[in-house]
Amino acid sequence: MKDALLKIKSLAKDELSKVNDTKALEELRVKFLGKKGELTSILKQMGKLSAEERPVIGQLANQVRAEIEESITNRVKEIKALMLEKKLKEEELDVTLPGNKATIGKLHPLNIVLNEIEEIFMGMGFDVVDGPEVEYDYYNFEALNLPLDHPARDTQDTFYITDNILLRTQTSSVQVHVMEEKKPPLRIISPGRVYRSDAVDATHSPLFHQIEGLVVDKGITMSDLVGTLELLMKRLYGDDCKIRLRPHHFPFTEPSAEVDVMCFNCGGKGCSMCKDEGYIELLGAGMVHPKVLANCGIDPEVYSGFAFGLGLERIVMRRYGINDMRLLFENDLRFLNQF
Ligand code: PHE
Repeated sequence: MKDALLKIKSLAKDELSKVNDTKALEELRVKFLGKKGELTSILKQMGKLSAEERPVIGQLANQVRAEIEESITNRVKEIKALMLEKKLKEEELDVTLPGNKATIGKLHPLNIVLNEIEEIFMGMGFDVVDGPEVEYDYYNFEALNLPLDHPARDTQDTFYITDNILLRTQTSSVQVHVMEEKKPPLRIISPGRVYRSDAVDATHSPLFHQIEGLVVDKGITMSDLVGTLELLMKRLYGDDCKIRLRPHHFPFTEPSAEVDVMCFNCGGKGCSMCKDEGYIELLGAGMVHPKVLANCGIDPEVYSGFAFGLGLERIVMRRYGINDMRLLFENDLRFLNQF
């Protein structure tokens, strides 16, 4: 019996050393130490032993059990270590490889300048408001003193959804919304997309951006308009920047003006950038027409106001010396990464 026990011990150790995964190890444990295992079956024969032999064999059996258990525990540790090593090998990463750089987006030049302009106007107490791009004819034309047969409509042909609904040609439509909804004092700017059915070239696009400005209160005069625009241009282009107003006509302002800014390139002397003018046209403006005020339920006998409409692309192009408007819409990273 003693021999049988020692044989089990050496057999178990031998087989254990060949096992390489925990499942097979468990099977071995059952085979040697389980209820129907080899050790148990020998212990069942203990009854046949003499009283002297019994404790000796019993002790040996316990010793064999303990040794096999210990071997199993050790083997488990070894197998786990082996598996970990294997896993680490498989998942090895080379920390010396150059990483993948995440490209971080940045603001489009149109947004850079728009943010700046919004900041300047907020500093003067203006609210920034939004208006619909899909608009009723009434807000885009009719309420702005441009009835159906008005010839100025020809210069602002657009995309029609129905006879009555169109893509707005100017942010001036927001003037009407604002004046319908709120009563003076009003001080807002409204930036956004506008549409005209123009063919694409270096200075035209069927989609571009305007920033509308509107101030309505008691006693607002043309000098408030000039002062506001002068301040804007000085902040945008520097303190020595000058503006110039030329008489013009818009159906919804009276009097109306086109506003030019001194050419930053030549300082007013004339150059290729300003086509020898010394000044560059940047926006339309004027005193809100009494009819427009009345159309929106504001008494023109009590209130007056000024309005202006800036072309954002123009301001951005002048700012950065961009000579083709298409660059602003093509999303070419070689261009956009320069800002
Ligand atoms: N809406 C005019 C345009 O698109 C610009 C403008 C706005 C003129 C406000 C006067 C007052 O040409």
